[in-house]
Amino acid sequence: MPASHPIRIAPSLLAADFARLGEEVAAIEAAGADWLHLDIMDGHFVPNISFGPSVVKALRKHARMPFDVHLMIAPADPYLAAFADAGADLISLHPEAGPHLHRSLQTIRALGKKAGVVLNPATPVAVVAEVIDLVDLVLVMSVNPGFGGQSFIRSQLNKIATLRGMIEASGHEIALQVDGGVTATTAKDCIAAGADVLVAGTAVFGAPDYAAAIAGLRG
Ligand code: DX5
Ligand code: ZN
Repeated sequence: MPASHPIRIAPSLLAADFARLGEEVAAIEAAGADWLHLDIMDGHFVPNISFGPSVVKALRKHARMPFDVHLMIAPADPYLAAFADAGADLISLHPEAGPHLHRSLQTIRALGKKAGVVLNPATPVAVVAEVIDLVDLVLVMSVNPGFGGQSFIRSQLNKIATLRGMIEASGHEIALQVDGGVTATTAKDCIAAGADVLVAGTAVFGAPDYAAAIAGLRG
């Protein structure tokens, strides 16, 4: 069942020019981005290192759009307050990143932020049912996390459709986000499956015209 909400586009800063991050953030907002997706990688939970809360904080003044922080770090709990203080509006984490997902989500909400749970390609949807009262966002990874520019894993479309049904049945306002290998072509499939927030790195920051790239993802 397709989402009834407008489609929101969350460009991933991972594909931006790291020497000009402030300008990139301002440019992507001007180009029509709805959220900014910030990928936090620790070289431990995933085999890559990106940036931390000090960079998030430095960028906060360059845009007004919500900052969507995707934590790929373990442990995550010791850093939740730092990302909240840095200006995150949404904080999402993977169940595999710590022993107490339920408590971590409670902590994010207690910090006054929206909370998200992220499912790796091999992570089953069942985990969401147990925390559905505590999440504002469910993120389906359509690549294995760690790097931009990977190919979309099509088996995740069924997962998106299953989650759309779970969200509708819950009656809660929960965003359904997809991340990894999203292009103008795969975006259509994600939207048809029920996703309503599309993360895209390469397809936006790698394009010559950011506004055209964002518009092209909306379908
Ligand atoms: C991967 C990250 C993604 C990544 C997406 O671990 O979570 O957000 O930046 O990059 P593309 O859109 O290039 O697949
Ligand atoms: Zn991400």
